[in-house]
Amino acid sequence: MRVLVTGGAGFIGANFVHSTIENHPDAEVTVLDKLTYAGNPDSIAGLDRVELVVGDIADADTVDPLVKDADVVVNFAAESHNDNSLNDPSPFIRTNIEGTFQILEAVRRHGTRLHHISTDEVYGDLEIDEPRKFAPGDPYKPSSPYSSSKGASDLLVRAWVRSFGVPATISNCSNNYGPYQHIEKFIPRTITNLIDGVRPRVYGTGEQVRDWIHVLDHNSAVWEIINKGRIGETYLIGANGEKNNLEVTKMILAEFGRDPDDFDHVNDRPGHDQRYAIDNSKLVEETGWQPSFQDFAAGLHNTVEWYKANEAWWRPQKEAVEAKYAKQGQ
Ligand code: NAD
Ligand code: TYD
Repeated sequence: MRVLVTGGAGFIGANFVHSTIENHPDAEVTVLDKLTYAGNPDSIAGLDRVELVVGDIADADTVDPLVKDADVVVNFAAESHNDNSLNDPSPFIRTNIEGTFQILEAVRRHGTRLHHISTDEVYGDLEIDEPRKFAPGDPYKPSSPYSSSKGASDLLVRAWVRSFGVPATISNCSNNYGPYQHIEKFIPRTITNLIDGVRPRVYGTGEQVRDWIHVLDHNSAVWEIINKGRIGETYLIGANGEKNNLEVTKMILAEFGRDPDDFDHVNDRPGHDQRYAIDNSKLVEETGWQPSFQDFAAGLHNTVEWYKANEAWWRPQKEAVEAKYAKQGQ
C-alpha cells in the first residue's frame, strides 16, 4: 500500500507517519511537505519505508505525479495556527483552500482514495455551559481566517465527491496534544515556558474549553475511517476530553511542582472561540473506534516528559516564538 501523507513533517502528520510505519508493515509512505516554519524533517528522520518530498500542495505539477503513484492520500498539510491567521491570513488561503483544490483535481484525474483532515473549528463555538456538542450535519460557522479556510476546504471536498465522484472522506477533530507539536500551540508553549522557568500565559479569563485528544488517538481514528468509512461521509473525532485552559495550565504547573496560581493572564485572542466539544457517536457506531488515552493527566505527563527529553527538537524555535507573542502582549 502506497500512502501519500501531505504535511507529514508537521505535528499530527509526523505522528501519523510513525504509527503507519509501526502498524502497517505493507505500507510505503511518501511525505509531501513544504517544510514551512511548522514542518521539521527531524520529526520523521531515520524511518524505513518513508520518503520525504519537499514541495507545495498548491503546486499542481508537484502534486499530480505523487497522487498518481499513491493508493491513498491523507491530507494533513495546512497552515494550522489561529493566532498566525489573525496576523496574516494569506498563506491560509493559499495552502488550505488552493492546496486542497489541487489535491482534489489530482485525485479526480487518477481516481485515488482521499482522506481530508479537518478541524472541529469549522463549526464555530459553543456556549461554555450548554449541553450540546458539535455533531455531523451542524452548520459551518467558522470564526477565524484559519477555521474559515479549513471550512472552505471541506466544502470543496464535498463538492468534488458529489459532482465528480471523487472517493473521499473528511474528519473534523478536536484539539490534539502529544509529541512533536509546535511550541506556538498552548500545551507545548506552556510546557516549554515552564522548562525555562517562565510563567505560563493564559489568554483572557482562561475559561475557554477545548476537547483534548491524544494525537495517537486522532490518527488511529483516521485509519479506521480510511478502512471502514463510507465515501462522501464526514466523521467527527473526539475523545470526551473537555477541559478549560485554566485547568490545563494548573495540571501542567503541577507537573513542574509549581504553585497552581503561578501563571499570568495576558491579552485575549480577538474573536476567541469559547468552547469546542465533539459528539463522536457516528465514528464509534460505524467503525468501532475507541481512544486508547482515556486519562488526560497520564497523556499530559507523557507529553511533558517528551518535551523535557527532546529539547534539541524545540529549542531552536523558542526565542522567535516568544518574541512574536511578546509583540502581541501575549
Ligand atoms: P502543523 O502546523 O504542525 O503541520 C502542518 C504541516 O503542513 C507542516 O509540516 C507544514 O510544513 C506543512 N505545510 C504547510 N503548508 C504546506 C503546503 N502548502 N504544502 C505542503 N506542506 C505544507 O499542523 P498540525 O497541528 O499537524 O495539523 C495538521 C492538520 O490537522 C491540519 O489540517 C489541521 O487543520 C488539522 N487539525 C489540527 C488539530 C490540532 O489540534 N493541531 C486539530 C484538528 C485538526
Ligand atoms: P491553541 O493551542 O492555539 O489551539 P486552538 O486555537 O486551535 O484551540 O490554543 C488552545 C487554547 O489555549 C485557546 O483557547 C487559546 C489558549 N491559549 C492560551 O491561553 N495561552 C497561550 O499561550 C496559547 C498559545 C493559547
